[in-house]
Amino acid sequence: MQKLFILLVFVLTSSSLFAQNNIIPQPVSFVYTRSQPFKINVGTTIGGNNAEAQKAARQLADQISRATGYRFTVRKQGSIQLNLNATPNPKIGDEGYTLNVSNTKIQINANKPAGLFYGVQTLLQLLPPEIESATAVAAKWSVPACEIIDYPRFGWRGMMLDVSRHFFPKEDVKRYIDRMARYKYNVFHWHLTDDEGWRIEIKSLPKLTQVGACRVQRYGKWGLHDAPKKTEAPTDCGFYTQDDIREIVAYAAERHIQILPEIDVPGHNSAAVASYPELCCTQDSSIMVSPGHRFAEWYGNGQFKMLVDNTLDPSSEKVYSFLDKVFTEVAALFPFPYIHAGGDECYHGYWEQDPDCQALMQKEGLKTTHELQSYFTKRVEKIVKSKGKKLIGWDEILEGGLAPEAAVMSWRGLEGGIEAAKQGHYVVMSPNDYVYIDLLQGDPLVEPDQTSYKSVRLQKAYTFEPVPEEINPTYILGGQANLWTEKVPTIRQAEYMTWPRAWATADIYWSPKGEKNWDNFTRRMENHMQRFDVGGFNYARSAFDPIVTGSMVDGKLMANVTTEVNGLDIYYTLDETLPDKYSHKYTGPVEIPEGKAVTFKVATYHNGQPSGKMIPISRDELMKRVVPAKAP
Ligand code: ACM
Repeated sequence: MQKLFILLVFVLTSSSLFAQNNIIPQPVSFVYTRSQPFKINVGTTIGGNNAEAQKAARQLADQISRATGYRFTVRKQGSIQLNLNATPNPKIGDEGYTLNVSNTKIQINANKPAGLFYGVQTLLQLLPPEIESATAVAAKWSVPACEIIDYPRFGWRGMMLDVSRHFFPKEDVKRYIDRMARYKYNVFHWHLTDDEGWRIEIKSLPKLTQVGACRVQRYGKWGLHDAPKKTEAPTDCGFYTQDDIREIVAYAAERHIQILPEIDVPGHNSAAVASYPELCCTQDSSIMVSPGHRFAEWYGNGQFKMLVDNTLDPSSEKVYSFLDKVFTEVAALFPFPYIHAGGDECYHGYWEQDPDCQALMQKEGLKTTHELQSYFTKRVEKIVKSKGKKLIGWDEILEGGLAPEAAVMSWRGLEGGIEAAKQGHYVVMSPNDYVYIDLLQGDPLVEPDQTSYKSVRLQKAYTFEPVPEEINPTYILGGQANLWTEKVPTIRQAEYMTWPRAWATADIYWSPKGEKNWDNFTRRMENHMQRFDVGGFNYARSAFDPIVTGSMVDGKLMANVTTEVNGLDIYYTLDETLPDKYSHKYTGPVEIPEGKAVTFKVATYHNGQPSGKMIPISRDELMKRVVPAKAP
């Protein structure tokens, strides 16, 4: 009896081990059952109990057909069966699903089509990585017997792509949306306008794309480019026609992703001003779309000065009729209830010198230019509302007073979101410290962008908690991962910056609070890296790279190495050769000998295989990384 009890305790306490799976985001509840696996073969059939269920079934059939080479069609009843519940299951809501796998049947049930779609994504992840293949491949096509109940923590699970700094053609945007869908994101925030390009066709304002979507060609490092000259032809062009937009909106909708369009006003508007100079206070017709040259001075702490007037004039009625035209067309293109109207990093220097802005402030009793920006945003909210939409803006829209019904996207930290929620406004959290995926994710010595102002390593991103304790959680709609693209010229680089950090945020925005386990996450992450390898998608292995800091011990310079992913073997050399698994094994701080030319080269291995980038650090560089000893 006692033995039986011990066995029972063992089985119960080790059940979490048996429940390990590779699914991202981690489901709410997952258990393996005793049945044999379900084997997919030519005899497998796929069914859906009504037209909507059959649509999700067809998406599954397409992917499995592509990878297996079997030809699956969809019928009413199948051995893989997708059903919309006749009576809603209150536990799983609008986006949840249940998934049961036995050796004879796979059953996915949901209340709404979105739930079936997410059930399909999970099922694909239960299949081997080869399921991501675009062509038929051989693999063991079996699904482990299990029972899953799953639903999201947040209704807003977003990713932002900036298509102004670099333009991404329609096919690239679809590819990005496809990956988002795989991880159950449901909002694609499309940053469509900025100083470096206006990317959306507005039919009533043709110059926005004739002029604003083109800039002069530049190569090399962003921010260091030569300023554009009027004598140069602006040949670097790109924008989405309204037909393109409708196509992408429909493409995203098929994947249960809604699109949040962003028209960033009143700052960040060189492209609009280059098209229609009357929109800014200075009416400066020499302003051109920026090709990524330096047109602002940054003083740290968010303080800056714009060297060109890239700001819409809040005292000009022309600006409001311009915005009315823009938002009329934007509202008609995007079914999502919100429009993002920006509001970030708006320079007030030209407003301060402008007599009309000063007169408006006097007339309206506005004491500061923050209040002037708030006046502007309130008028924009009225315009957006008149088109049947709600306004969301970056957290700067809090300054000078929030527009009555505006939602806030908190990016400079959590504070803006906390303040907005305390005022009873809805919030989407995307603080740069955790979820700005344009920031460095590894050692600048080996990352493509060596001049980033900040770093957000994967492990830091994974610690993000979107609901601060002091506020009513119902105001937090959810969160995002945001990709600014100044230094992201290609879709493959966009993928490198996005994954694996957006796998971490997928867990954060979907999975229950408190379920975090770093080792479990990195284990699942490795499986998804295999999936991306098969599918030909890019990602960063920076979390496997060595992290090197220096310290001084008894006057000697020491190299200290850690890693984000646990369980890696670390090897190094000091003789200029490349380290491999036969080099010195790192077991603790390494003394770096004197000598100008000395380089500490360090690499990680995982299960005997190279696993990250080799980091070569000169003695001089290591000296710069010496962490001062704590005072006793
Ligand atoms: C922002 O990152 N400027 C919103």
